Amino acid sequence: MSEISPEKLILGTVQMGLDYGINNSSGKVSLGESFKILECAFDSGIRILDSAEAYGDAHQVIGAFHKAHPDKIFEIITKLPHQVDAGIYDKVLRYLNELEVSELKALLFHSFESYRKNITNFDVLLELKAQNKIDYIGVSVYTNSEIETILADENVDIIQLPFNLLDNSMLRGQVLKRAKDKGKIIHTRSAFLQGLFFKSLDSDNFITKQLNTELTQLNLIVTNSNISMSHLALNYCLHQETIDNVLIGVDSEQQLKENLDALSYSIDSEILHEIDSIKANNPKLLNPSLWT
Ligand SMILES: NC(=O)c1ccc[n+]([C@@H]2O[C@H](COP(=O)([O-])OP(=O)(O)OC[C@H]3O[C@@H](n4cnc5c(N)ncnc54)[C@H](OP(=O)(O)O)[C@@H]3O)[C@@H](O)[C@H]2O)c1
Repeated sequence: MSEISPEKLILGTVQMGLDYGINNSSGKVSLGESFKILECAFDSGIRILDSAEAYGDAHQVIGAFHKAHPDKIFEIITKLPHQVDAGIYDKVLRYLNELEVSELKALLFHSFESYRKNITNFDVLLELKAQNKIDYIGVSVYTNSEIETILADENVDIIQLPFNLLDNSMLRGQVLKRAKDKGKIIHTRSAFLQGLFFKSLDSDNFITKQLNTELTQLNLIVTNSNISMSHLALNYCLHQETIDNVLIGVDSEQQLKENLDALSYSIDSEILHEIDSIKANNPKLLNPSLWT
C-alpha cells in the first residue's frame, strides 16, 4: 500500500491542557514537552490541531507556541463548550486571540446535544464563515444515529466521530459511506481508544476486563502479523477511504515519532479485513464518555 501523507493526521491537544486518558499515569503534558510535540508535528508535516474551550489551557499553550514560532502556525479546529447557548461570536474572537491565529479552520459543537440546542444560532456561525473567521462548521458526535440526523443539515461541513480497531467498519462502515455521499468531511478520533489498546490484558481496569475477548483478538493479530499496536491502530484508520483526517493524541514527542513511523508502514489488506470482521459484543463499552 502507498505511503500516507502526514497531512491526513490531526494532532489532538486535550493532553496538553488536562490530565487525560485511561492508561495515563503521568498527568497533563508539561509546557516544555507540549512545545516539543508541536514543533515535531509541524516539522513532520502535520498542519491541523484539534482543541476545545473545555481542554483546560490548551488554547493558551497553542497560542504561546505560535508566538514563539511565527513561522510554524497551525490550522486550528476548536470546539464551543458543551453548555453554550449564546455569545458565540465573541467567543470566537476570544479564541482567535488566545490561539494567535487570524481564522479558525473549523468551529465544532462539542456534542450532538450542544448542536441540537444551537440550531437557532446558526446565523451567527454563517456570519463568522462569511467574514472568513471560520472555514467550516462541525459537530463532534458519538453514535451512528447522531450522524444520520446531521446528514440532513447542509450547514454542517465536518462530522468528528470515534473510529478505531474495535469501533470499526463493522460498526461504522455504512453510515460513513452515506456521510461521504452527502459531501461531509469526516474526522475521526479515539484511534487508540484513549490508550486502552496499550494496556496490559491482565490489567485490573474495568473496561479492559469487559473488553477482554476483543482486546485478546487484537493482541493476537499484533503478535501474528509482527506489527506494533500503534502502527496497526493508526494504519487501520488511515487506510479508510471514507475518512478524511485521523486525530491522534500523544503524551510525548517520542509517541508522536512512533506514530509518524506508521505512515510509511505498509499493512497487508488481509489484516485490515481481519479487523473489519471483529464485532464488539457491547458497543456501548467503546464510548469513553460512558467509562466513568
Ligand atoms: N468529543 C470530542 O470532541 C473529543 C473527545 C476526546 C478527544 N478528542 C480529541 O481527540 C484527541 C485525541 O484523543 P483520543 O481520545 O482520540 O486519544 P487517542 O488518540 O485514542 O489516544 C491517545 C493516547 O494514546 C496513548 N498513545 C498514543 N500514541 C502512543 C504510542 N505510540 N504508544 C503508546 N501509547 C500511545 C497516549 O496515552 P498514554 O501514554 O497516557 O497511555 C495518548 O494520550 C484529543 O487530544 C482531543 O483533541 C475529542
